[in-house]
Amino acid sequence: MAREIKEIKAMEILDSRGNPTIRTFVTLADGSIASASVPSGASTGENEALELRDGDSSRYGGKGVLKAVGNVNDVIAPRLIGVDAARQQYIDMVMIDMDGTENKSRLGANATLSVSMAVARAAATSLGLPLYSYLGGCTANRIPVPMMNILNGGKHADCSVDFQEFMIMPLGAPCFAEALRYGSETFHALKVLLKEKGYATSVGDEGGFAPNLTSNEEPCELIVQAIERAGFRPGEDVAIAIDPAASSFFEDGTYKLSRSGAGEKDSAGMVDIFKEWVAKYPIVSIEDGLAEDDWEGFNLITREMGDKIQIVGDDIFVTNVNFIRRGIKEGSANSVLIKLNQIGTVSETVSAIRLCREAGWSFVVSHRSGETEDAFISDFTVAMDGRQIKTGSVSRSERLAKYNRLLEIEQELGSAARFENPLKS
Ligand code: PGA
Ligand code: ZN
Repeated sequence: MAREIKEIKAMEILDSRGNPTIRTFVTLADGSIASASVPSGASTGENEALELRDGDSSRYGGKGVLKAVGNVNDVIAPRLIGVDAARQQYIDMVMIDMDGTENKSRLGANATLSVSMAVARAAATSLGLPLYSYLGGCTANRIPVPMMNILNGGKHADCSVDFQEFMIMPLGAPCFAEALRYGSETFHALKVLLKEKGYATSVGDEGGFAPNLTSNEEPCELIVQAIERAGFRPGEDVAIAIDPAASSFFEDGTYKLSRSGAGEKDSAGMVDIFKEWVAKYPIVSIEDGLAEDDWEGFNLITREMGDKIQIVGDDIFVTNVNFIRRGIKEGSANSVLIKLNQIGTVSETVSAIRLCREAGWSFVVSHRSGETEDAFISDFTVAMDGRQIKTGSVSRSERLAKYNRLLEIEQELGSAARFENPLKS
């Protein structure tokens, strides 16, 4: 049969931070070949599926992934040779069963995900379909609104800002290509503004500027000014979304805002900051405003602010249906950040998205801070009818690869493409 898997072969490559990651090639009986590469986070949730690293300090400081490569080539591949590549769920289940652990610690989520994504691509190639149509059906036509991280702090930059991501969302754009232009022009206006103020314009891991600022709030002020300078209306054309990634500064039950010198806060103190900011700036979405273990804090922010803005859980849910279910029961958020490598297979990621939909929650498909040139998430978001994608700033090619792929998809769909403000009630 044409779509039978003939060969699965993995290799070690480097990600955008120069750390090893895994790329897997899948070849089918009809000669179709496809590959997929797995990204890697820095501010990872403690309950994410395990990214298997060699721990051999003589190579890449222990970060090599040759064990994961070996698991693909020697353990997973022999079990999947001969299987129809279109049997995505079956293939993912075989890997989940073979692994047998809660967090994929035996095979490594990097190993399983690279196979899972490459199999999907190979099947799409064999059927002559773009990946978004293969995974989403022939009516998939929604292009997501980008959340563009133009100012980086926290674990993604060596600067004085505690909060990790300050993003712009071109909600008022008529189509994705225009949204990207709004974003790019705002990014460039921000650069000029930073220069004028004597701030550095070097960029962090996700391509956003990473200056030493005077407070955690200053990015909001600067971004509003940049939006205006670029000729857009803050809040109407371009809004702000933030991801403080609060787990990364939560210690012994308190939020330590030590980089910026803003002292320590409890959960209610953090929520007060956000309330004040939302009153002052056009902030429409807050991700990980509280830490992954602070369910009470998440419940509080959602109770207090969830009817006005999007409250996204990343580290707290780790794309895992068990945690998302708890969040739905407790009312801990109203949106989930979706990262394929937090869970380790395409099928499980789709299950997480389905659960969001059933609960009436939104979801945001996301890259990782360590990325590759693979634009799988662009097709995946369109396939899932996803309304929002978070894939970095408008600089660094591993980020632009995703945006450029979305431009291609929008062009390919032509007048069938849909682009809408996801937060309009
Ligand atoms: P990470 O950050 O990829 O470093 O985990 C992204 C995020 O927190 O959303
Ligand atoms: Zn996050």
